[in-house]
Amino acid sequence: MSLQYTAVGWNRQKRLYDTVLGCCAAGYLLVFTGVSAALHPSATLETLLIRGLGTLALLMLHVILCIGPLCRLDPRFLPLLYNRRHLGVSMFVTALAHGVFSLVQFHALGDVPPLVSLFVSNTRYDSLAQFPFQALGAVALGILFLMAATSHDFWLRNLSAPVWKRLHMAVYLAYALLIGHVVLGALQSEPSLLLSGFLAAGMALVVGLHLAAGFQERRIDAARGAAQAHGFVDVCDIKAIPEKRARIVSLAGERVAVFRHDGRVSAVSNVCQHQNGPLGEGRIIDGCITCPWHGYQYLPETGASPPPFTEKVPVFRTQVIGDRVLVHPQPLPGGGRSCDART
Ligand code: HEM
Ligand code: FES
Repeated sequence: MSLQYTAVGWNRQKRLYDTVLGCCAAGYLLVFTGVSAALHPSATLETLLIRGLGTLALLMLHVILCIGPLCRLDPRFLPLLYNRRHLGVSMFVTALAHGVFSLVQFHALGDVPPLVSLFVSNTRYDSLAQFPFQALGAVALGILFLMAATSHDFWLRNLSAPVWKRLHMAVYLAYALLIGHVVLGALQSEPSLLLSGFLAAGMALVVGLHLAAGFQERRIDAARGAAQAHGFVDVCDIKAIPEKRARIVSLAGERVAVFRHDGRVSAVSNVCQHQNGPLGEGRIIDGCITCPWHGYQYLPETGASPPPFTEKVPVFRTQVIGDRVLVHPQPLPGGGRSCDART
């Protein structure tokens, strides 16, 4: 058995995303070094670059950590998720540049190799004031390296999704180490109201969004559990039903056509009253489910044909909870009250 290697599939959207990302990163570095040079005229360009690259990498990490919960809270953020790995690799490259510049600036001139010097030059792990904060940054960088190196789909397939996911959850450990790196390092040696403010706001945002997404998921799970306890059956994801079309499901031995249209989900018997045509293979035309065989029409909410016609198909109660569609298997006679749900 051999594995198929596929090159990264670049498309116009990915190129655009990377161009915008590159321009934003370059713009940030320019503004950061310009403003910092004006505020601290004695600082060297190396120091400004180290600080600019460090804060940029941390900013990117915050964005990365916020994308997941944002998408769970609102699917409109999903386009951000599709390119999150590019953002992750760019963040690692930026952090690596910050780490390498720091190593050169602070550890390259002694007779001990820079990487060894990084870990042995300060061993005051028992002191908060003089804690070797750079070691925290180095361990975090090691984790970010593992994640960037395994970000390609090749690794996702080879490691299997659960192992890959567990490995990439280490981003939260890296985040905690980096908070320590900045609080015990930069903020102790040169307290900055701006950096402290941004860090506190960033942490509050990351934690707040994760909590909000977690609470929403718990609420949805509870609502789904209650609906199922009342006999509703989970039939599919809302995204599995194309707009103005149906998905045909089997409920208690009966085929049911579940339509999605204009922000609503309606379920009707799949059997047309004319000659048993499959309504679920039809479309919604002019607001009516239209049978694909001879064009008989039914209102999706009530199952009744629009006047002056009098045919009726049975309908089913629906619920949409989160992104799941639930249908009650007990049919109701068509032509009654509307019993569909909003998406
Ligand atoms: C080998 C790894 C690392 C080393 C040796 C290192 C070293 C340093 C040093 C020496 C400073 C103080 C710079 C100064 O105040 O002039 C610093 C600050 C900082 N580092 Fe790192 N770092 C590493 C990894 C990271 C990583 C992975 C990130 C983020 C993803 C990061 C983010 C920051 C930030 C935000 C600051 C504060 C910048 C400021 O003062 O405005 N560092 N780091
Ligand atoms: S079977 Fe539906 S219109 Fe004829």
